[in-house]
Amino acid sequence: MKALIAAGGHGTRLRPLTYTINKHLVPLANKPMIYYALEKVAETKIKEVAININQGDKEIKQIVGSGKKWGLNITYLEQAGGALGVAHVVKNALDWIGKDDLLFYLGDNIVLAPLQKLIDKFKKKQLDCLLGLTKVSDPERFGVPVFDKQGRLLKIEEKPQKPKSDYAVTGIYIYSNAVREAVQKIQPGPRGELEISDVHTYLIETNKKVGYEELTGWWKDTGKPDVLLEGNSLILANIELDIKGKVKKGAIIEGKVIIEKGTQIAKNCLIRGPVVIGKNCKLENTTIEPYTSIGDNCDIQGAEISHSIICDEAKINCNKRIVDSLIGPAAQVSSQKATKPSGHKLILGNNTLVEL
Ligand code: G1P
Repeated sequence: MKALIAAGGHGTRLRPLTYTINKHLVPLANKPMIYYALEKVAETKIKEVAININQGDKEIKQIVGSGKKWGLNITYLEQAGGALGVAHVVKNALDWIGKDDLLFYLGDNIVLAPLQKLIDKFKKKQLDCLLGLTKVSDPERFGVPVFDKQGRLLKIEEKPQKPKSDYAVTGIYIYSNAVREAVQKIQPGPRGELEISDVHTYLIETNKKVGYEELTGWWKDTGKPDVLLEGNSLILANIELDIKGKVKKGAIIEGKVIIEKGTQIAKNCLIRGPVVIGKNCKLENTTIEPYTSIGDNCDIQGAEISHSIICDEAKINCNKRIVDSLIGPAAQVSSQKATKPSGHKLILGNNTLVEL
C-alpha cells in the first residue's frame, strides 16, 4: 500500500495566514500541519508516499524534504491543471499509484486514532474502499454518508443542505485499485470540482465493497481561526513535559509544558500547560495559560496569553490579556504610546481581524 497526501489548494478560508504560507504548513503546536499526516503514515507499514502540491509550489518540498526523518520515501506530484477537486488529486496521481492499494489522506485533517487498524480491517474484509467516519454537529460542512435501515451505505452526499445522518466522512480513505475507474468516470459537481464523495457513491453503485470505521480524535480545518485553535488544543492535550530551555528560579511552570532550547523564561513568569514554547524565545513578566503555542524567536513581555497560537518571530509587549487569538509570523502587538493624536494605531493586512 502507498499513501497519497493532499496538500494543494489555496487555503482561502484561513486568510490572512495563508497569504504567506500554504495552509498545510500553518503551525499546530509548533509543527506544520502536514507533519501530523506524515507521522500518522509513518506509524503504519507504508513507506512510499506522494504529496500532491500546487503547480510550482516549492515551499512544501523545502520544509518536508525527502521524508527520511519519518522513514518514508516522499515523491512530490504537482497537480496538473490546478486545484480541480479532491478526486482530481487521485486522478492526477494514477501513474504513481500503479496497481497498489492506496491510503488517501487529506493533509488538513488530523487524526489521533492509529491508521494501521483501518488498514488491517480493509485487508481482512477485502474491501475496495474504507471510509473513516466521525459524528459531528455540523455535517453540512462535509461529505455525509446516507445509510439504509441495516446500516449499509447507500451513497455519500457532498455538503448537503439537509444532511441525512450526523456523520462526516473524514479526509482519510483507503482504496483498492477500483478507485482508478471511479476517478475517471465521475463528472465535476456543482462547485465545478471532481468530488471525492462522487467517487465513493460511484463505488457503492457499481457494487464494490465499501466499508467504514468510526474514527476518534479527528479534527479538520474548516477554515475558521477558532477551529484552528481547536486543532491546536487537540494536539497540546497529548504533549508531555519537556523543558530544554532556561527557566529562571522563581518562574512557575505548571502541568505539561514544552520549552525548546535557547528559550529564556524570566523569574516573574507563570506558564500553565498544556503549552508549547519554541526555540530562542524571551518571556518576561508574562503569564501563559493552557492551550497556547508560541513559535520560535518570539519576544513576549508583560502579557497574559490564553488559548492562542503565536507564530515565529512575533513580538508582544503590552500589559493586556490576549485570548483565543491567532498571531501570525513576525506580527507585533504593543502598548499604546502616549503620543498625539490619541487612539489605537493599527497596521493591518488584508483579511485581518481586530477586536478592540
Ligand atoms: C473534503 C471532501 C469532504 C470531506 C472533507 C474532509 O471537503 O470533499 O467530503 O468531508 O474533505 O476533510 P473540502 O475540504 O474540500 O471542503
